[in-house]
Amino acid sequence: MSGFSADWLALREPHDLRARSGEIVSMVAASLDALPSLQIVDLACGTGSTLRALSPHLPVRQHWRLVDNDLGLLGRAKAMPLANHVTVAATPLDLNRDLETALDGPTDLVTTSALLDLVSNTWLDRLVVEIAARSIPFYASLTYDGRIEIAPGDPADGEIISAINAHQTIEKGFGPALGPAAAKAAIEGFERVGYIAAHRRSDWIIGPRDRDIQEAIFSGWADAAGEIGLAPAKAASWLMRRREFIAAGLSSLRVGHLDLLAAPIGKR
Ligand SMILES: C[S@@+](CC[C@H](N)C(=O)[O-])C[C@H]1O[C@@H](n2cnc3c(N)ncnc32)[C@H](O)[C@@H]1O
Repeated sequence: MSGFSADWLALREPHDLRARSGEIVSMVAASLDALPSLQIVDLACGTGSTLRALSPHLPVRQHWRLVDNDLGLLGRAKAMPLANHVTVAATPLDLNRDLETALDGPTDLVTTSALLDLVSNTWLDRLVVEIAARSIPFYASLTYDGRIEIAPGDPADGEIISAINAHQTIEKGFGPALGPAAAKAAIEGFERVGYIAAHRRSDWIIGPRDRDIQEAIFSGWADAAGEIGLAPAKAASWLMRRREFIAAGLSSLRVGHLDLLAAPIGKR
């Protein structure tokens, strides 16, 4: 399952929804509650997970500009059923090249989810500058922050986790990726331009019954560890032991994420 495939996004969405910080969502809604209608831009929207998660918490008329460079995912996002007070426009853009175009036009809120760990420090700085220049609040959910806890423990877990965190920094189309450093860099970046950055943990807490997502995560991690240089036999035997724990109904996992609301002072 690829990192951006519709199947993977569908598998992770219920876990994302459970993990999202309700406090940050409430702060996002409060930051917008004086406005009679909303123009929202969702960067790297995938199939529309942030729209589905956030729009029910915003009681006013909303128009979402959904931006992604994957036409298949955008097509699915555009086809989703919507409440009467929500409209969407799908905008195919490469955000590495055309970030400024994506932010063009009247905008009350910029959102994204599961994107910031993929981008480079340079691109993040550009995003911060462009958003601050427009004085818009920014809601970024589910930024991976490097914390992983797996139970029951296995002697190779530490090596696998280090390999995954190294793999996270490989270029994903935006220059060298921030990976686990992204959440902190985003907070600091927005604070530097005078924004208030509220953040809360939004960890995936995945239990023994969540077998499908564990299988997908662990096999993806074994591949990633192999790509970064871990001996293939070591990664394969780790995956075999993890699969035995999953099959026995014993395996659980926490993956650390952070949700962020960055708002110009006076707008939170
Ligand atoms: C991990 S997925 C997250 C999708 C969605 N936000 C969610 O939470 O389900 C990352 C998304 O970034 C998009 N993406 C990656 N590189 C991009 C680029 N250069 N321009 C626009 N979108 C990009 C992918 O197509 C994918 O939809």
